[in-house]
Amino acid sequence: MKPALVFGTRPEMIKLAPVIRSFLERGVRPLLIHTGQHYDYEMSSVFLRELELPPIDYHLEVGSGTQAEQTGKAMIEIEKVLMEEEPDVTIVQGDTNTVLAGALASVKLKIPVAHVEAGLRSFDRTMPEEINRILADHASDVLFPPTEEARKNLEREGITENVYVTGNTIVDAVLQNSVVAERKSDILERLSLKSGEYILITAHRAENTDSKENLSRLVEILESLPMRAVYPMHPRTRRRLNEFDLWERVASIEHLIVTKPLGYLDFLKLEKNAFAVMTDSGGVQEEAIILNVPCLTLRYNTERPETVKAGGNVLVGLEKGRVLHYLDLLLSDRNFYRRMREAENPFGDGKAGERIVEILLGLYEREKLRIKSSRFI
Ligand code: UD1
Ligand code: UDP
Repeated sequence: MKPALVFGTRPEMIKLAPVIRSFLERGVRPLLIHTGQHYDYEMSSVFLRELELPPIDYHLEVGSGTQAEQTGKAMIEIEKVLMEEEPDVTIVQGDTNTVLAGALASVKLKIPVAHVEAGLRSFDRTMPEEINRILADHASDVLFPPTEEARKNLEREGITENVYVTGNTIVDAVLQNSVVAERKSDILERLSLKSGEYILITAHRAENTDSKENLSRLVEILESLPMRAVYPMHPRTRRRLNEFDLWERVASIEHLIVTKPLGYLDFLKLEKNAFAVMTDSGGVQEEAIILNVPCLTLRYNTERPETVKAGGNVLVGLEKGRVLHYLDLLLSDRNFYRRMREAENPFGDGKAGERIVEILLGLYEREKLRIKSSRFI
C-alpha cells in the first residue's frame, strides 16, 4: 500500500507521528507531504527532529494568509503532488486548513481520504476549525473518531460506514515522549521553576486573540493570577499583542514568564509538572487529563466534552471571575484538586496509531479502500 500523509501544523505532526511510526514498523514507508502552514523552526522543524520523523518528501511552503488564501494555495499544491504520486489513500488529522485542503484535493482526484480524529464537534460554526472538521469528515471514506462520543456525532450526520473508534493518537504521543521528556528536558532548571508551583498557559485561538477586546480580557487574567505562570506563546498571539499595543503590559507582569513556542519534550515536561494548565488548545486539553493535571479551558465550548464530563477540565471562558474562583478552589480545597487530577483519561490506551494502520492495511488488502459513490443508499 502507498499511503500519503498530509500535515502542516504543530499538532498534526505530534498526532500523526505515532501513525507514521506504526506504518514504518509494518514495513510501509508513507509519503510525507508538509504544507508549510507552520514554518518557524519552533512551530515545525523542532517537531520533525524531536519526533524522529523520516525526511519530508514534499514541502509545499504554503505559509500564512487569509482562510481562503491558505486553504486554496494548499489545495493547489497538494493536488499536484497527489496527481504525480497517485497514493492509495490520503491521511489527514484534525481540523486545520491543511486538513480541509488535503481532504478536498484528494477526494476530487478519487483518492480516498482517511480522517484521523474524526467526529469532533464544538457545535460552534463561527470557528474555522468547526467548518474544517465537518467538511473533512464528509469528504472522508474512512473515519477514525477517537471516542464513542465523536462516533455518535458522525452517526447523527449520517456517517456510519468505515467508522472505527480507535482512541486518540495523542495518548500514543504522550506515552512515547513523556518518559524521554522527563529524562532529557532541563526546562524547569532553565526557567527556575519548581514542580507543582506554577501554572502552564497556552492561548492562540482566533476567537481569543483576533479582537482587541478579547485579547485584553486574556491580559487581565494573566495580570491577576495568584501564582507564577509560564506561557510559551504562539506566534499568532505574539503578533496580535503587538498590533493591539498590549505586549508591554504582558511583558511587565512579574509573576509571568513568556517564552517562544517550545519543543515537544520541554513542553511535556512543563505540562507534567504544572500545578494546573490554562489553555484554549485542543491538544493541551487532552494532554492535561492524560498527565493528571487539572485543566481550565479559556473557551466557552469544547469539542472535547469527554474531558469535562470526566471531571478533569472546566470551561472558564475569558471570565476572570471564573478563572480566579477555580484557581482558588484548586489551591484551597485538596479534595477538589485531587478529584480534578484523578479524572480518568477518556482518550484510550496509547495504541491508536497501531489500530489505524492495521485497519487501513486490512481495508487495502480486502480492496475496500475506495470511494463509495453514495453514503445514503
Ligand atoms: C492553526 C489552526 C488551529 C490550530 C493551530 C495549531 C486553522 C484554521 N487553524 O492556527 O486550529 O490550533 O494551527 O497551532 O488551520 N505564524 C507564524 N509562524 C508560523 C505559523 C504561524 O508567525 O510558523 C503566525 C502568522 O502570523 C500567521 C498566524 O500565526 O498569520 C496564524 O497562523 P495560522 O496557521 O493561520 O493559524 P494558527 O493560529 O496557527
Ligand atoms: N505544544 C508544544 N509546544 C508549545 C505549545 C504546545 O509542543 O509551546 C504541543 C502540545 O503539547 C500539544 C500541541 O502542541 O501536543 C497542541 O498544539 P496547538 O495548541 O498549537 O494546537 P491545537 O491542539 O489547539 O490544535
